[in-house]
Amino acid sequence: MPEIAFVNDAFMPLSDAVVPIDDRGFVFSDGVYEVIAVYEGIPFRMREHLERIQRSAAGIRLPLPPEFERIEAWIEEGIRQSGFPDCKVYVQITRGVAPRGHAFPVDVQPTLVATFREKEVLASEIREQGVSLITIEDIRWARCDIKSVALLPNVLAKQQALDAGAFESVFYSDDKTVHECSVSNIFYVKRGAVITPAKSNKLLPGITRGVVLELTRELGIETSEKRVCFDDLFRADEIFLTGTTIEVLSVVKVDDAKIGDSKVGPVTRRIYERFCQEINTEPVAKV
Ligand code: PDD
Repeated sequence: MPEIAFVNDAFMPLSDAVVPIDDRGFVFSDGVYEVIAVYEGIPFRMREHLERIQRSAAGIRLPLPPEFERIEAWIEEGIRQSGFPDCKVYVQITRGVAPRGHAFPVDVQPTLVATFREKEVLASEIREQGVSLITIEDIRWARCDIKSVALLPNVLAKQQALDAGAFESVFYSDDKTVHECSVSNIFYVKRGAVITPAKSNKLLPGITRGVVLELTRELGIETSEKRVCFDDLFRADEIFLTGTTIEVLSVVKVDDAKIGDSKVGPVTRRIYERFCQEINTEPVAKV
């Protein structure tokens, strides 16, 4: 099945897709993006992703290109052409192609690109065993609520986690407030209640986070969005992460501390299984 790209209104094989060297996404990371999961041909929560990219674009004063008006139709066309039932759609909009200069270029069309690739499935052992986190000081900017392509601190944080034998890094600030991870949002469970950091300029309001909050409330689980401190993580009964690529993923260790009994906890399992129903996917058996 072909991996394909959409570049400024045309589909092509991914290997043929290029953008000019002066694209401001390349030169300044001057752009925004979305990652949308597709299950059995159906994009999951597409409207919410599209609303978020519009908010992100407005947040960096980036006008939307004309092709954006037909985005739902061409995303569906890309999924159809690629033929992957479970597909990962990446959409990026940048401020366009112009000779390098910091000020916004005048009369330049934004660049809109998308890629359609097969969605990777997380190894079942990772789901069954849970993952570890490292804690890391948040050195990012003050608009982490914008899904900007300027992700260098996130890239460094993810690599630092992998180098330490962990899966993710969780960002905390000077006052020990915990925000989110390098590519995911974080939740913890205490005495049966589910808690996640409240929305702020220091975290991306994840679409998966929003879905999980809907589901926990529907399941009758006490749920709150509030300030989370560093120590809350170490006192948690369970911790889990959410994100488009990982869905709901248990955490069993933070730095050197074990969480709960180092196994996927019952509340996390219940939420994961309910999330699987939402995406019409069979849960991994032993979670
Ligand atoms: N990012 N926080 C950060 C910093 C993220 O990069 C992501 C996901 C999330 C979770 O958001 P959502 O549930 O909407 O996927 C939270 C995508 C998957 C990425 O950059 O690949």
